[in-house]
Amino acid sequence: MSAPSQARFVRRGAPAYTPAMAAAKRRPKTTWACTACGETTRGWFGQCPSCQEWNTIKEQVERPSAGARVVLATPGTSAKAIPVTQAQAAARDEARLPTGIHEFDRVLGGGLVPGSLVLLGGAPGIGKSTLLLQACAGLVGSGGRSVLYASGEESIAQVANRAARLRGGEFVAADERLLLLAETRIESILDAVTEHRPDVLVVDSIQTVYSDAQDGLPGNISQIRSVTGHLLSWAKTTNVPVVIVGHVTKDGQLAGPRLLEHMVDAVLSFEGDEERATRMLRASKNRFGSTAELGVFEMTGLGLREIKNPSEAFLADHPEQAIGSAVTASLEGSRPLLLEVQALLGPSPGGYPRRTCVGADPNRLAMLLAVLDRHADLFVVDQDVFVNVAGGLRLNEPAADLAVLLAVASSHLRKPIAGRTVMIGEVGLTGELRRVPRLDERLAEAGRLGFDRAIVSGRAGSGTTRPRGPKGLAIVEVETVVQAVEAAFDG
Ligand code: TYD
Ligand code: MG
Repeated sequence: MSAPSQARFVRRGAPAYTPAMAAAKRRPKTTWACTACGETTRGWFGQCPSCQEWNTIKEQVERPSAGARVVLATPGTSAKAIPVTQAQAAARDEARLPTGIHEFDRVLGGGLVPGSLVLLGGAPGIGKSTLLLQACAGLVGSGGRSVLYASGEESIAQVANRAARLRGGEFVAADERLLLLAETRIESILDAVTEHRPDVLVVDSIQTVYSDAQDGLPGNISQIRSVTGHLLSWAKTTNVPVVIVGHVTKDGQLAGPRLLEHMVDAVLSFEGDEERATRMLRASKNRFGSTAELGVFEMTGLGLREIKNPSEAFLADHPEQAIGSAVTASLEGSRPLLLEVQALLGPSPGGYPRRTCVGADPNRLAMLLAVLDRHADLFVVDQDVFVNVAGGLRLNEPAADLAVLLAVASSHLRKPIAGRTVMIGEVGLTGELRRVPRLDERLAEAGRLGFDRAIVSGRAGSGTTRPRGPKGLAIVEVETVVQAVEAAFDG
């Protein structure tokens, strides 16, 4: 068999390059991209092959432009490598800019770092604009800085009205150094900041801002990439921190935050639910600080109020001597926090008992149920189990194991845990209890809130230092879950 002739694929007499072909090349290229993760695909898919989200692949018209590139050094100078020691010395001189809102500053790691790009994400209506307006008030009020607040969502009058109403914090936003700008074109925003030279720039929100250099509607993935690129370049070249707001819908459908996360220095999320006024601020990425810190606020009619003693707030409605309730001391970053774990057991009608957790890990719960069953002779594995962490908080460390386990045991035995008791310990698969880090700080917090007994994991005679609690707090050290159950229900 002879090989097929090459000539079959070339139209005879066709010119090599027609004007129509040249025009087609100049036409903006159409690509498809996921609005959630930014992955580009070759066509439309119902489900994104990268992040598995549904209905997120959208057509994008892309034209290569200068706005898509990010500049990290002063324009015009060629990049130069410098010794790390020299760079460290330069970095030390860059003092942070505290916003004056302590809960916000702690999550940032001590304030805004010059030249950094911070993303504040959260569901619409959660209070992002309110928080930033109060942070602006703090920056101008306590730090004497100037801030430019660019709003693409609200008119100047709306922002000004809100600024006049905010009395939740120490500072008021009515100050000449707080400049408001209602603008959605990034080039105009950058012209304004070049003119006014503020110490901090706030852009609310990234989904409403667009760039002339890019096609497509604001909020579109290529627009978000381009606008963030502009802001990143501007922040790094002028050394001015930029805070941008990004909306996330409840199901995470909207473009932005996930793609943005890679570009920015810190990602903060503002959380809470509609029924409660409590709002929590966490960092999921922070190049300049810890991601373990938690900031707690309350939304009031006069704006956000900082909650300096979250333990008190979260234990405010804590019923004493209630069946299925246990209190633990958890560490949230640098701070111990007391929280209440509730459990309810019930007969399971089907063959598959349900485990429903709000704020706790269902896999961890399954393990604790197995431990109770095997090592404490409490037969709970055939029951429906519901576990809830009061106040909308999440358990994020194994030190809370003992409280979950004893809350379940309390519901099963239909007996409340004796006295005002706090429970701290990690549970192992063999039914042993392990020590937890920074126990003394947790005990001090429990003592401060009037608890008089603590059941903690401890191995007598293991040579480790004994836990030291505050006056009035009796410490019961237990080594196994059996001892813990005895200690919890005998008092
Ligand atoms: P907002 O900051 O506009 O939310 P976001 O920018 O995240 O969309 O806050 C909106 C909600 O907060 C609104 O429903 C009303 C409420 N709110 C108060 O309860 N008290 C206040 O002082 C302010 C300013 C807002
Ligand atoms: Mg807003």
